[in-house]
Amino acid sequence: MYVCICKAVTEHELRRAIAQGAECFEDLQARTGCATCCGCCEDEARRLLGTTLETQRREAALPIAA
Ligand code: FES
Repeated sequence: MYVCICKAVTEHELRRAIAQGAECFEDLQARTGCATCCGCCEDEARRLLGTTLETQRREAALPIAA
Protein backbone atom coordinates (compact mmCIF):
# COMPACT_ATOMS: atom_id res chain seq x y z
CA MET A 1 0.00 0.00 0.00
CA TYR A 2 1.28 3.47 -0.85
CA VAL A 3 1.89 5.76 2.10
CA CYS A 4 3.38 8.62 0.07
CA ILE A 5 1.60 9.23 -3.19
CA CYS A 6 3.84 12.12 -4.29
CA LYS A 7 7.01 10.01 -4.14
CA ALA A 8 5.36 6.61 -4.67
CA VAL A 9 6.70 5.19 -1.41
CA THR A 10 5.02 2.07 -0.06
CA GLU A 11 4.62 0.85 3.50
CA HIS A 12 6.97 -2.02 2.65
CA GLU A 13 9.68 0.41 1.50
CA LEU A 14 9.33 2.41 4.71
CA ARG A 15 9.59 -0.75 6.85
CA ARG A 16 12.66 -1.84 4.89
CA ALA A 17 14.34 1.56 5.41
CA ILE A 18 13.66 1.28 9.15
CA ALA A 19 15.04 -2.28 9.22
CA GLN A 20 18.15 -0.98 7.46
CA GLY A 21 18.76 1.67 10.11
CA ALA A 22 16.43 4.65 9.77
CA GLU A 23 15.91 5.71 13.38
CA CYS A 24 14.14 9.04 13.04
CA PHE A 25 11.74 10.74 10.69
CA GLU A 26 14.52 12.69 8.97
CA ASP A 27 16.37 9.41 8.28
CA LEU A 28 13.20 8.00 6.76
CA GLN A 29 12.77 11.04 4.56
CA ALA A 30 16.38 10.93 3.39
CA ARG A 31 16.28 7.21 2.59
CA THR A 32 12.88 7.08 0.87
CA GLY A 33 11.89 10.61 -0.10
CA CYS A 34 8.58 10.28 1.71
CA ALA A 35 7.00 13.47 3.05
CA THR A 36 9.31 15.68 1.02
CA CYS A 37 6.65 17.11 -1.26
CA CYS A 38 3.12 18.01 -0.06
CA GLY A 39 3.62 16.48 3.40
CA CYS A 40 0.19 14.83 3.57
CA CYS A 41 1.83 11.48 4.42
CA GLU A 42 3.94 12.76 7.31
CA ASP A 43 1.59 11.67 10.10
CA GLU A 44 1.25 8.15 8.69
CA ALA A 45 5.01 7.85 8.07
CA ARG A 46 5.74 8.98 11.65
CA ARG A 47 3.15 6.54 13.03
CA LEU A 48 4.65 3.67 11.04
CA LEU A 49 8.17 4.63 12.16
CA GLY A 50 7.13 4.66 15.81
CA THR A 51 5.28 1.36 15.76
CA THR A 52 8.00 -0.41 13.75
CA LEU A 53 10.80 0.82 16.04
CA GLU A 54 8.77 -0.24 19.08
CA THR A 55 8.27 -3.71 17.60
CA GLN A 56 12.01 -3.98 16.87
CA ARG A 57 12.87 -2.99 20.46
CA ARG A 58 10.43 -5.52 21.91
CA GLU A 59 11.75 -8.31 19.69
CA ALA A 60 15.34 -7.47 20.63
CA ALA A 61 14.42 -7.67 24.33
CA LEU A 62 12.85 -11.15 24.07
CA PRO A 63 14.90 -13.99 25.53
CA ILE A 64 16.21 -16.56 23.08
CA ALA A 65 14.32 -19.86 23.32
CA ALA A 66 16.44 -22.87 24.30
S1 FES B 1 1.93 12.25 -0.14
FE1 FES B 1 3.94 12.17 0.65
S2 FES B 1 4.79 14.10 0.18
FE2 FES B 1 2.81 14.15 -0.70
